[in-house]
Amino acid sequence: MGSLDSKAFAAAGQSHLLRRLDQLSGDQAARFQRDLEQLDLSCLQRLWCADDDAAIQVAPKPPALVELTDHAVRAEAVSRGQALLAQGKVACLTVAGGQGSRLGWDGPKGTFPSGPISGDSLFAQFAGQIQRETTRYGQPVPWCIMTSPLNHESTVAFFEQQRHFGLDPSTVSFFTQGVMPSVDRESGEVLLSAPDAIAFNPDGHGGTLRALATSGLLARLREQGVEHLSYFQVDNPLVRALDPVFLGLHVEGSVSSGEVTSKAVAKRAAEEKVGVFGVQDGRLTVLEYSDLDPQVCEATDGEGRLMFRAGNMAVHAFGLAFLDRLTKGTGLPFHRAIKKVPFFDESTGTVEQPSAPNAVKYETFIFDALPMATRPLVVEADRSEEFAPIKNAEGSDSVHTSQMAQTARAAKWLSQSGVEIVTGSSGQPAAQIEIRSSSATCPEDLALCELPAKLGAGERFLV
Ligand code: UTP
Repeated sequence: MGSLDSKAFAAAGQSHLLRRLDQLSGDQAARFQRDLEQLDLSCLQRLWCADDDAAIQVAPKPPALVELTDHAVRAEAVSRGQALLAQGKVACLTVAGGQGSRLGWDGPKGTFPSGPISGDSLFAQFAGQIQRETTRYGQPVPWCIMTSPLNHESTVAFFEQQRHFGLDPSTVSFFTQGVMPSVDRESGEVLLSAPDAIAFNPDGHGGTLRALATSGLLARLREQGVEHLSYFQVDNPLVRALDPVFLGLHVEGSVSSGEVTSKAVAKRAAEEKVGVFGVQDGRLTVLEYSDLDPQVCEATDGEGRLMFRAGNMAVHAFGLAFLDRLTKGTGLPFHRAIKKVPFFDESTGTVEQPSAPNAVKYETFIFDALPMATRPLVVEADRSEEFAPIKNAEGSDSVHTSQMAQTARAAKWLSQSGVEIVTGSSGQPAAQIEIRSSSATCPEDLALCELPAKLGAGERFLV
């Protein structure tokens, strides 16, 4: 076994880890030593000693939003986006390395059954879209899925078990993000998850950048002729994985550098806990809800709309050249989050489940790339069409609210196709309705489907 520098551990306030190592032997000691060798002690020390995320100093301004009310601009963007797709220049990127602790699902979040009738998993819902667009544009769309060391094997096993949802397996690539140790929030000492293991957490969705580069995937995509990535999170079944309008605007040289384009949804209320787009020091940025002064949050414009209403729905188009440049830079900053992290208690010899937040997790966020872009764009999307994330088991952003939104969108598309939709007293469709993404990714696709004349109470319609 290689030796570990006890002075470095002491300087970083982590000597307890070497004492732990001394108490282990055989395989356990070897295993623990491998964990210790992964630690970047000076980085950990720097992060622990740094101030909390600096409060916002310069007053932010709202960003300009592209609203797409002009039909001609829209039509031009669509044809530019379609051309990109037909030339095979776009790949999808799904970040699926999170722990999904709020949902409490036993397995990677992408395996969660989210379809209201079909019970299709989140991954299946995205795969259906990719399959449809592959057929439509006659070009395979590479799909890159970021996992973490904690869920990589189970994610890959799920895809194999589901036979990659009918996609060509050679077009689906998994790459694994890095991890950071969780530390005790009082002492800064690295926590253990077991007698012989450090409590590592995934290093945040910002880990995408480094993982894309170190896995070699960025270079492979470039070799395949991919120029842009359509980035989305694993938790939003309404996402448009490949949206020609959005992609077309992203590459419209007169308004965008093609580096980053982001989608925003209007916040429902000032108190909605979502990051918003803002401009600071002339740079586009995402302002976290917790960092915003309540007065700024509540400020309205002349029409009574929230000034900072452009909520970040975590959908971005990234130019590959931009990502390549970023991966060669200093990296994204770490943020701290105070969370409940189960830990091995050496005094009792058991794994404790804390009832209150006990730990600091260090994570990087992909949206910290935005200020580094030249001429980024923010495009406003319709929440009811594109955003219904599953974050929680109950309450807001839950399975229930997401399935209601999926049903409502399906009913709207069917109604646009001439189907009479009977609604209940709350305005929700009376029937159970689901349009699978493999059947339609836009209302026009329904022209190819056999549709009923009317859907009323007690009926179920799955297409
Ligand atoms: P969330 O912020 O919702 O975090 O991630 P989470 O870990 O999934 O869920 P909670 O907070 O524990 O309940 C937003 C998106 O970023 C991905 C998630 O998989 C999700 O798609 N993500 C998050 C990563 O890929 N890696 C990370 O380290 C964190």
